[in-house]
Order: sequence, then structure tokens, then C-alpha cells
Amino acid sequence: MQVAIGIVLNGLIGLAAASYSSSEFDWTTISPSTDLEYHDCFDDFKCARLIAPLDYKNDTDPRTVVIAMIKLPAVVPDDDPAFAGSIFTNPGGPGGAGVGFMVRAGKGLRNVLDKPGRRHYEILSFDPRGVGNSWPRANCFVRDTLARNAILLELRGHGPLNSGGGSAVPYVLALQKAIGRRCQDAEESNINGGQIMAYMGTPNVARDMVQMVDKIAELRARDASARKYLSYNGNDQEDRLKLKRRKASQVDYGVPRLQYIGYSYGTVLGNYFASLFPGRVGRIVLDGVVDVNDYSSGPGWITNLVDTDEIADRFFSGCHEAGPKICALARENDESSSSVKSRFYLWLSELDKKPISAISPTGTIVVVSSQDIRELLGSALYKPRRSFITFAKALNNAMAGDTAAIVRSLFRRHLPQPKDVCAIHNSTGPGSEEYLPEGAASVLCADGDNVLGYDAAWWKRYVDYQVNTSSIFGAYWSNIRIACNSWNFHPNWVFKGPFTTPSAKYLAFGEPVSGHPAAPILFVSNRLDPVTPLIAARAMAAQHPGAGLVVTEALGHGTMGTGDSACLHSYIADYFDTGVVPSGEALCKPDCDPWNKECDTAELETTPQNGQGYSWDYTLSARI
Ligand SMILES: *[C@@H]1O[C@H](CO)[C@@H](O)[C@H](O)[C@H]1NC(C)=O
Ligand SMILES: *[C@@H]1O[C@H](CO)[C@@H](O)[C@H](O)[C@H]1NC(C)=O
Ligand SMILES: *[C@@H]1O[C@H](CO)[C@@H](O)[C@H](O)[C@H]1NC(C)=O
Repeated sequence: MQVAIGIVLNGLIGLAAASYSSSEFDWTTISPSTDLEYHDCFDDFKCARLIAPLDYKNDTDPRTVVIAMIKLPAVVPDDDPAFAGSIFTNPGGPGGAGVGFMVRAGKGLRNVLDKPGRRHYEILSFDPRGVGNSWPRANCFVRDTLARNAILLELRGHGPLNSGGGSAVPYVLALQKAIGRRCQDAEESNINGGQIMAYMGTPNVARDMVQMVDKIAELRARDASARKYLSYNGNDQEDRLKLKRRKASQVDYGVPRLQYIGYSYGTVLGNYFASLFPGRVGRIVLDGVVDVNDYSSGPGWITNLVDTDEIADRFFSGCHEAGPKICALARENDESSSSVKSRFYLWLSELDKKPISAISPTGTIVVVSSQDIRELLGSALYKPRRSFITFAKALNNAMAGDTAAIVRSLFRRHLPQPKDVCAIHNSTGPGSEEYLPEGAASVLCADGDNVLGYDAAWWKRYVDYQVNTSSIFGAYWSNIRIACNSWNFHPNWVFKGPFTTPSAKYLAFGEPVSGHPAAPILFVSNRLDPVTPLIAARAMAAQHPGAGLVVTEALGHGTMGTGDSACLHSYIADYFDTGVVPSGEALCKPDCDPWNKECDTAELETTPQNGQGYSWDYTLSARI
């Protein structure tokens, strides 16, 4: 998750969605087109700007959106018998951008999904409508990053939502109301190139994927006939043989279908897609699974944190087991992990009486509270392999009075540095890839039940419930939905389920039956996930007939970078190949333990190490 400017905390960014520098590629060099046209970008990638209808629910509405697409070509040409089409991916969010994710993680993903010599895929992603380089863009603070930053600092001042004897809630509601008004003003003034915020709900994004799948099929058909024309050697029989060999080795779905792997919020998108367009399902893998019933109905986002505090306990017990040579918080003479844990909580309660005064590297003044530490701990639980050892060290230093590392990570992940704002975000057009919380709100408020104008008492109960579920993350997590209290856009397309699919069905010669998925969905989950618990994966799998579930014995959000193993990767690659899911719950052991210093973390390098890539950042100022 990454949070946000206080408009909303963006809960479910599964994977780091850090920014690339927009100087790497200028999207305005591509003219948007209705048919798919790829252009070189980011060295090894191809980019396109596809025009799609703004409002699929209104045939007479002429307005359009432009979707920024990116693909990593397959390692074989399209006419190679082992070429097996596109696999789409979404990194999480809502509001997360696919382009930056692909640039960093596309190659690693392709390596996992390919079956050398047998199946090679192109990997494809996109900035969802309203997000990143897509256009129009949901942005309520165009050319005004300073105002954006000021809100974040203001939102800190009141303390966590469960503090102040209940006074924090009405304060935040008042702030959100002003933010909501600013967003409406932005839409009405047309400053973002047209209206978008009411048209960003997940059904629209799922429908955009149908559009992309169809445009890819059209382009491939055009290319294939051009190739055939150019390479025709006068031998029809040889040509037919070639075609036959190729078909035999490829997924031949008839109607164009989606092959997809989604993480975190990407599992919401995949679930909506499958439930709305079951006849377009080729293969779908959902990793770090959101309970889409909770996401779309009721108070919303209240089942995410059931395992969060237990993972925090694992942080302390793992630290104790690893010992002081590896975990800086451990001591030689500790008798049990509760010694580590109680030292930490004692220090936390002292912080409440005496918060830390700090000055950031660029001179911003900040007070570090116990709530900040809880949020940092909650953040560390997302990617234990990357964070546990370094976070333990930063904490240990802070507990000994040296708060430099904690302050640095607070600024990296959660706070703006107003000194920077004049140099950034000066453009109104596409080309800025950074995460914006109003992009998240546009999606999640449209998808969830309407909570517009609910009173402070209702929200206090909501916050209490969240804090009851997780003392570490509950107050913070409540920010996600509270943004919807003043999100006054009427969504064009709402879908409340049922989130289910007919069973996968084939004709005698192997082609999937129209209206049915080509394969059941494969769900993937860590044993303990801080924001998308295993119980949600089980519930979602139970709603889709024939679905499979792979559980990896790891901690962290989503399996990428937390629960990787040859076992897991082969379940996924085999599924894309055959469409077969394991029966029952398949188990895999991760290659690496968070406390194992020997572990090769090379594959994790696709996401920046310095914290800017932490997907759970508050993401003001280009820090996702
Ligand atoms: C559909 O679009 C047309 C043209 O923009 C507009 O006049 C009409 O009000 C829209 N209908 C609905 C139901 O939004
Ligand atoms: C931002 O845009 C304004 C107006 O176009 C321009 O005057 C200013 O120089 C720009 N600032 C930066 C840092 O690019
Ligand atoms: C939170 O837990 C406390 C103690 O168990 C209980 O009294 C309270 O009703 C709970 N609040 C909510 C909103 O669930």
C-alpha cells in the first residue's frame, strides 16, 4: 500500500510502483490512435497510446480516454511456434501505474512466466484510465504540489484517527470535504483535459482490458497477413503446415481472451474482469488476493488487517531467533522474543510522552510520533525480505537516541519535502508517472458503497473497528475509506457482483466454449499477508468454480519478492501453459527467509532499494 496525501491512503499497491524519470520517455511523442500502434520506448519496450471510449455505458457519448500501454516483447518473434501471446499485468493500487512497474519488473516477470522452448510471452501493462500517463488524468492539484504537500502536513497534525478523544475524525472529515471540493473544481475547470473521475471505477478498467485484448488481436492479424504476403514462397501446402504447427503449440482461444497476472488491487481488477466477461478469460492468476465483497460492499476495507499484528509478532520472534548478529533489536541475554517486543513497546509508549523532534535532510521540520513508528512497522511488514533487517537496525538506533535512519525513511515513504516542490510537477499533461491519491479515490470510492456525508460517529466506529483488528495499522488504514466521505462523483458504472464465473468448458477439439472461461482462476497467497490475508484468497477461490490456490509459507504482501520459489513459479508457468490448477491447496516453501542475510536479493533489485520504491509509501511528490 502506499498512502497518500491524506486524501487517501492507497491500500493495495501490491508491488513497488516507483517512478521512473519522465525524461526517460516523452509520451507526447506518440499520437494517440484508435488502432494499436507500438513505438519504441525505454530501450527494450514498446509503448502505445490507445484511444478508448470514456463512457462504455453511453453509446452516444463521443468523449474518449487515452490509455498508456507498454509491452515487453517476447524473446521470440510473433510468428515463432513458441510465441504464446500477451500476458497482461497490474501492479496494484488502486491508482497504481503499470508502466513504471513494467520498466522495473517486466523482465523478471517474463522469466517467471516463460517456458523456454515451449512458450514465450510478451508481457503487457498499462496505466489505468485516469492514472499516470493515461489521459485525462485524475489530478486535483494541477501545478500546485505545494497545496498538496500542505494538506499532508496538515493531516499529520491531528494525530492518528483514533486519537484526541475522538477529535481527529471530524477534523479529517472537514479536510476531506475541502479536498473533495477541490477535485470537483478541477474536473469542472477541464484543467485535466476533460472529465475522468466519475469514469474510473474498476468495471471501466476491466472493459478497457477487453478493448486492449481485441486491439492486440486485430494488430496481430494485420501483421500476420502482411508477413504472409511478404514471405509467400508460392507453396500453399508448406504454409498450411506451418500454420498448423503453430496452432498446435499455441493457446488458440477463438475469441480474443485475456491472459493476466494481477497483484493486490490487480486481483480486484482480475476478479471484476472474470465476473463481468467470463467468456474473455484465457488465464488469470491473482496474487495477494483482496476480498472483493468487502471491497465493493458494506463499510469497505474492513477485512484486510486480520493477520497484520500477527506478522508484527513474527517480526519480533524472528528477530529473537536470528539473534543480535543479524537483528539489531535482539540482545544476547534475551530469554524470549517477548523481551524484544516489550522493549519496543515500552519505547513506543515513551514516545507518546516525548515525541522526537527532527529536521529532514532538506530542512523540513517534523515531529516523529509513535503513530509514525507504527506506520513504518506496518510498512515493513509488506516486504519482510527487503525490510526486516534494515528496519530492525533503524529502530534499534532510534531507541538508542539516533533517529537519523528513522527520520530518513519517514521522509522517503510518508512525508513531502516542501523544498522540492517548485522543481517538480509543473506539467498539466501526461508524462508524470507518479501516484496520485485522487486516482485511487476515483476508483475505490466508485467501486465501494456510497458513504458520502456519513457522520463523525459512524466514522469513529469504523476507526475503532479497524484499530481493534490491527493496533499497528488500523488507524492508518482507515484513511483509505474516509476519503470517500466527500467524494462526490456519480460513477458511470457500478458492479456489485456476483463475483463468480461459470466453470471452464471446452469443445471436443479443445476450443473453449463461448461465454465460459478457458481455464479456472489460479489464486496465490502468502500464508501471512498484512493487507490481503489468506482467508480472502480462500473466500475468493470458493466463489469461482474449479479455482486453484497456491499458498506459500511466507510473510509479506503478495508473493513477489516475499514468497518466491521454483515451486511457486512452476505452478504459475504451468498454469499459463496448460490452464490446469492444482487441486486442493498447493503448498510451496519460499527460497528465502527475511532474516537470511545470505539470500540472493538480486531479483528484488527491480524495485528501488532506497525506499522510493516501497509500494506502501505515502506518495506525495513522486515517491511511490
Ligand atoms: C449520453 O451521452 C450523451 C452525449 O454526450 C448525453 O447527451 C446524454 O445525456 C448521456 N446519457 C447519459 C445517461 O448520461
Ligand atoms: C513551471 O511552469 C511555469 C508556467 O509554464 C514556468 O513559468 C516555470 O518556469 C516552470 N517551472 C519549472 C521549474 O519548470
Ligand atoms: C473494539 O474492541 C473492544 C474491546 O474488545 C470492544 O469493547 C469494542 O466494542 C470494539 N469496537 C468495535 C467498533 O468493534
